[in-house]
Amino acid sequence: MGDPGPTGRFGDFGGRFVPESLVPACLELEVAFRQAWADPAFHAELDRILADYGGRPTPITECGRLSDELGLRLFLKREDLAHTGSHKLNNVIGQALLARRMGKGRLIAETGAGQHGVATATAAALFGLECVVYMGEVDIGRQALNVFRMELLGAEVRAVTSGSRTLKDAVNDALRDWVASVDGTHYCLGSVMGPHPYPWMVREFQRVVGDEAREQFRARTDGADPDVVVACAGGGSNAAGTFAGFADFTDSVLVGVEAEGGAALTVGIPGVLHGMRSALMQDESGQILEAESISAGLDYPGIGPEHAHLAAVGRARYVTAGDAEVVEAFQRLGRTEGILPALESAHALAWVFRAAATGELPQGSTVLVTLSGRGDKDVGQVRDILRAVEGRGS
Ligand SMILES: Cc1ncc(COP(=O)(O)O)c(C=O)c1O
Repeated sequence: MGDPGPTGRFGDFGGRFVPESLVPACLELEVAFRQAWADPAFHAELDRILADYGGRPTPITECGRLSDELGLRLFLKREDLAHTGSHKLNNVIGQALLARRMGKGRLIAETGAGQHGVATATAAALFGLECVVYMGEVDIGRQALNVFRMELLGAEVRAVTSGSRTLKDAVNDALRDWVASVDGTHYCLGSVMGPHPYPWMVREFQRVVGDEAREQFRARTDGADPDVVVACAGGGSNAAGTFAGFADFTDSVLVGVEAEGGAALTVGIPGVLHGMRSALMQDESGQILEAESISAGLDYPGIGPEHAHLAAVGRARYVTAGDAEVVEAFQRLGRTEGILPALESAHALAWVFRAAATGELPQGSTVLVTLSGRGDKDVGQVRDILRAVEGRGS
């Protein structure tokens, strides 16, 4: 998982499919990132902020009770313990530092679950930048707590009322804003998607998750690597950051778990959306289909182009988890380990639980799951789901 070069291609995927007015901004960002990433002073400042402010390194936790139940050795990489409650801050601090280097005083972002919006609002407050977050109306409804968090942090949340009123439409509106405001605005994109250099740059900002996890895992297991490394994938940033620590350094099997209703790599076909060529859910005439998932962060009909490439060359495999088993996984981790995961992260766990039960994960396997975020934001939604299920049962 290296540098895709100036074209931003990962095999047949990636690229920079943007209106002409955005090409200079993408090129400026690529140059700024290349210079910063080669600059030890940039790394020193990023690492210092991620440590002193962000709470890195996050630990890995071996799940004793769950491991016994499953017949595995299960470890979690605890991004839920990072400041703001998910991996999203790693990318946002990097991009906010770049915005400052480029002299841009305004950050815009799209958000689904609200975690990327919260992280962007947080970085904007930390660096004294203006912040506007685009969020679909449906997601505003199911992630109300995060909307209020963003407002408390001084950001303006703009409701997106077009299309399916979820993440895909929020990206459209953020791109539209960027076209109109490009001189003073940096688009702080939240995942390994969009036009080059975002998929590569965001993966590099998230690489810290995989690099830490590999070293921490080896320290616990006399230098061994996990048999299987699992992460959920919406746009794919926590998975890409995790996989970057293992793909070229270990023989670990890499598994990305998409939402059943947002399974770009299972049912998708190649196409162009949001500035990238990748696997997309679309109909025969190329219309993008609406994703549908209880998890706002995985409710996206595409996936980052590097994942499409990793799937095509067989270095990673991609599977799905359905809403009902995800809610069960959410509860099971809480009851057995005292950790409430984000619904997004619960997809990764749901697949592990199923694969352990069916024998797809052999007894005694060592499994590392990236727990991309904490479940506080989802408690109200899960309560409503469980009440509805109880109501149907009585
Ligand atoms: C906790 C958490 N995990 C995962 C995701 C999915 O994003 P990605 O696939 O880019 O990691 C989100 C998105 O909002 C999230 O909030």
